[in-house]
Amino acid sequence: MAENAENTFYITTPIYYVNDVPHIGHAYTTIIADAISRFKKTTGAAVFFMTGTDEHGQKVEKAAAEKGMTPIELADKVVVRFENLWKALNIDYDYFIRTTRNFHEQGIQLIFKTLKEGGDIYKGTYEGFYCISDEYYLPEEVPFEKDGTKICPDCGKKSIVLKEESYFFRLSEYQDKLLAFYEKNPAFVRPQSRMNEVVSFVRSGLKDLSITRTTVKWGVPVPDDPAHSIYVWFDALHNYVTGAGYDWNLGLFLELWPADVHLIGKDILRFHAVFWPAFLMASGFELPRCVYGHGWWLKDETKMSKSKGNVLDPHVLLDVFGPDPLRYFLLREIPIGLDGNFSHEGFIHRVNSDLANDLGNLVQRTLTMIQTYLKGEISEGDDPQDEDIHLEEAFERTKKAVFDFYSEFSLNRALEEVWAYIGMVNKYLADSEPWKVAKDPELAGRLRRILHTAACAIRAIAFFVYPVIPQSAEKIWEALQEKGSFVETGYDGLEFVLPGLPRKTGRPEPLFPRVDLKEFLFEGKKGDVTAPKKELKEKTMATISYPEFKKMDLRVAKILEVEKVAGADKLLKLKIDLGTETRQIVAGIAQQYASEELVGKKAAVIVNLEPAVIRGIESQGMILAANVDGKATLAFYPDSVPTGAPVI
Ligand code: MSP
Repeated sequence: MAENAENTFYITTPIYYVNDVPHIGHAYTTIIADAISRFKKTTGAAVFFMTGTDEHGQKVEKAAAEKGMTPIELADKVVVRFENLWKALNIDYDYFIRTTRNFHEQGIQLIFKTLKEGGDIYKGTYEGFYCISDEYYLPEEVPFEKDGTKICPDCGKKSIVLKEESYFFRLSEYQDKLLAFYEKNPAFVRPQSRMNEVVSFVRSGLKDLSITRTTVKWGVPVPDDPAHSIYVWFDALHNYVTGAGYDWNLGLFLELWPADVHLIGKDILRFHAVFWPAFLMASGFELPRCVYGHGWWLKDETKMSKSKGNVLDPHVLLDVFGPDPLRYFLLREIPIGLDGNFSHEGFIHRVNSDLANDLGNLVQRTLTMIQTYLKGEISEGDDPQDEDIHLEEAFERTKKAVFDFYSEFSLNRALEEVWAYIGMVNKYLADSEPWKVAKDPELAGRLRRILHTAACAIRAIAFFVYPVIPQSAEKIWEALQEKGSFVETGYDGLEFVLPGLPRKTGRPEPLFPRVDLKEFLFEGKKGDVTAPKKELKEKTMATISYPEFKKMDLRVAKILEVEKVAGADKLLKLKIDLGTETRQIVAGIAQQYASEELVGKKAAVIVNLEPAVIRGIESQGMILAANVDGKATLAFYPDSVPTGAPVI
């Protein structure tokens, strides 16, 4: 297969499982891919950026059954959550692939058939440790117990040894070919430390891989043998070729393939750096140029995952701040290869210090001075002095360094360079004191030069930050009344100038609001329930006496009716029965519960809480719920518990 078309840059994210809604970890990978893709577009590359969802397999089958849905119903619902999140994060992908699409299913059936005919896939017997209650084979890496058995890591029950007929991929055949390939392409896996891991795994010996299941119904049927379904990873990895045109648009495929970079989390490195290239070799396709395994975002020092209950919902921050602060924080805070621990304090600190103070203030005060002193019109003014020339020279150095760091995906380093430059521009203004110069009419030409120089620098800064905080970069360019887009200007075309002088500028709206840490953590913003309030409050709550506790009238209430509150997507109005009377309460649970899940259920309510008016509706009490990162989870009583029973 030929090289992809010159100038094409094909970048992918993993396709995410639809067994659960997206969290900050998923957002992280997608934001990195978006930033790289936007940067590449400014360098003139024809970028194809693909993300999507992995919809088959046991995980999805099981999650759907637990929710009383069919797998495709669950997938359709969760896909919307992903699409909405990408929109809220300003992710500009070119294609969103779903593995339940016909073209993908047909593509992998064709590949399966071809590999079987070529002898790379054969039928055998799979034997492994199987968990009866979770109905799946335990991953190989689950350790043995002393008695030679294995315990299911999900449910903690003992597994049994099970044998079933299965198709195998002849992975063992590819051990030497893979090692030779890694040797010739040392940058195939990045960062370098991850390449070492991969090489030692392959050196330790590769066994053939079972790639079908008879126990999983929710999967693509094996051609001519439909009792078997294709294993979800064999299915999912091939999204990178089916999404690029194989085998429904070979012209497109020839243009795009091989991918330039598969961006992934380090958790799925083996699948991408060992199995995937072996599958591709078997099919005779070119191999991707790079698999980049980034680190994890941790919460409380552990990887975020639904089962640990420590996932962070990005919408909690996006609803308050918009996309850019979160994009900036995730990319600036840690080097791409390492893990980072997410803290709301760290996030607020970055927003206030880097975005509001350093960048926001610089733009705001420069444009305000242009309005006040120059009636909003920039022109060149006097000839430049040394300090003006220094700022221009520093721009040239920054331009090169930022380009190099973005090109090697060292996004945090690129941002460090930009912020060092922002610091220089702030210092330039402090030193050249335009507010004093403005007082002397003799120095009018000098004043214009200073503000022109600062405006040129700000224009360049907007260009530099565009891949990471595109919305703010666009606002800065708009305020400067810049004509072309970042892509039209292009990295090569970026100079220390303001084309088309004299030029009128606008007044910018504040780019980043300063956020009070205490207010955000303790009070939250309007209509926002945030986890950190809970975290910190727990630490500061004082002990109360039993009589104080007894002041609360807690009772079991039956939910009679549920209505959405117009214009508030988090709120539901509930009519509840307390046994002695009915009441209405407003609860922030609309994103977690549908009306039909609630009607008839019994839950604990605090009855003697002072009524509050929420969105014009009186709430006469409050339903009790666990608060996990702003998401409410209710506890329901069985029907046998009488309505109105006291909760003590
Ligand atoms: N469906 C597979 C991938 C198939 S690709 C052919 C899958 N999906 S997933 O929904 O579990 O997403 C895994 C990816 O989400 C990780 O590889 C990483 O990109 C991202 N992350 C999930 N949790 C993360 C963190 N806590 N931190 C950083 N990224 C994480 O695996």
